[in-house]
Amino acid sequence: MRTIKIFDTTLRDGEQSPGASMNVNEKVQVAKQLARLGVDIIEAGFAISSQGDFDAIKKIGDEVEGPVICSLARAKEEDIKRAWEALKDAPKKRIHTFHSTSDIHLKYQFRVSREEALKRSVGMVKLAKSFVEDVEFSPMDATRTDLPYLIEVVEAVVDAGALTVNIPDTVGYTTPTEFGEMIKAIKERIGDRAVIAVHCHNDLGLAVANSLSAILNGAGQVECTINGIGERAGNCSMEEIVMNLRTRSDFYNAGTNINTKEIIRTSRLITRITGIPVQPNKAIVGANAFAHESGIHQDGLLKEKMTYEIIRPEDIGLQQTELVLGKHSGRHAFKARLKELGYDLSPEQTEIAFEKFKHLADQKKNIFDEDIETLVSEEVSKMPETYSLVDLSVSSGTNVKPTAALKLKIGDNVIDRMEHGDGPVDAVYRAISAITETKSSLIKFEVKGITGGTDALGEVVVYLEEDGRNARGHGSDTDIIVASAKAYINALNKLAAKKSR
Ligand code: KIV
Ligand code: ZN
Repeated sequence: MRTIKIFDTTLRDGEQSPGASMNVNEKVQVAKQLARLGVDIIEAGFAISSQGDFDAIKKIGDEVEGPVICSLARAKEEDIKRAWEALKDAPKKRIHTFHSTSDIHLKYQFRVSREEALKRSVGMVKLAKSFVEDVEFSPMDATRTDLPYLIEVVEAVVDAGALTVNIPDTVGYTTPTEFGEMIKAIKERIGDRAVIAVHCHNDLGLAVANSLSAILNGAGQVECTINGIGERAGNCSMEEIVMNLRTRSDFYNAGTNINTKEIIRTSRLITRITGIPVQPNKAIVGANAFAHESGIHQDGLLKEKMTYEIIRPEDIGLQQTELVLGKHSGRHAFKARLKELGYDLSPEQTEIAFEKFKHLADQKKNIFDEDIETLVSEEVSKMPETYSLVDLSVSSGTNVKPTAALKLKIGDNVIDRMEHGDGPVDAVYRAISAITETKSSLIKFEVKGITGGTDALGEVVVYLEEDGRNARGHGSDTDIIVASAKAYINALNKLAAKKSR
């Protein structure tokens, strides 16, 4: 059975989803989880595109063990040098360089000839190769490229030293049969001289089907993202490709190195960090993926799971949510649970998370893994704060004018303010806005319960916009009004950090 390499591009192409931008600490947190999931390669960013991407690639290279860490680079000297700067200290590293090859791109966007595109591609693969052995090349918009020319480019970059050639379906245009034939033709020409990768977009909903067809025709690496997030309609979804190969290994005769039990945690982490929800009926990780409504199905399942279940929920890490800790659990039990959940926190972070846990345990009887993950995730992705919440009290009800009294710390000063509003959240937001004198506008406000029950930890996500800059803020608390305040302050802190850059 062949092992297909999983190249995760959640932190690069996935981050190109509208509203999905992540800060450096969030990216490191995601990369650590991807390492636990067992991906082979992490595309950690596009080093030249921003200082944030550069820093994230560097930090991931320094801190994340296991996968190869990769940076994207256009086929330009300055891009490749920047990618190398970000990657050079990583123990396992790859430069992924690309150049368009379709006539549509060459003629209208880049205004260069096919000969020039080929020359640049070969030249930049050679340059990348002078820094690092592991070089990948992508002929962008490959599926709308003249096939003989595409094969010529692929062969030339392999001769120049590319160990992986990635065939992107950049605009999600191809079909499974057509793409399979393309991969077969490339495989016939280059044989085992390089790994053939595929990178499919989902514009026509075929990203996974196209990738599977490529695997059947010789592809050895699939580029994908968690929950299928990415540019426009997204990329090939990691959980779908992996579970297809696992469930139908009899058909594909191929598997992956993925520890599938980590799939659901990874999916939830991405939702929490990016704020992009998973549709309930999404394959594998949707909330309804294992929910059986029909009486006939339920009857069958009770008699024998195999009747209507082709994947066991536990195979993707979906257990009956376990009660893990409670009010009387001590520091030791908390630390042990953090370790089991795969978190590696500094002593200071552990202490802060433990204090938060104790506070939560006073308010909430049963503490579940999801609660701990929410607390810890907040702690590890925290950035320096301009504003912090000191105190909040709110009154509201059927016959009371909603009022919020709030204290915020800004630098060494604590400023307080009382405001009325249309509801308690509105009153709190007016008070925060008055103290911070923010010019931002609130674009979106979402509330959800992390676990069931009226004492559940509630999570609020807000989106702000100011002068073309966007920021997403999270806050969690058993009190939904406090969670709302934390989310707003978190987003304002992110906007402040962006301004000071
Ligand atoms: O979709 C695409 O073509 C890409 C390349 C940079 C590989 O993301
Ligand atoms: Zn892409």
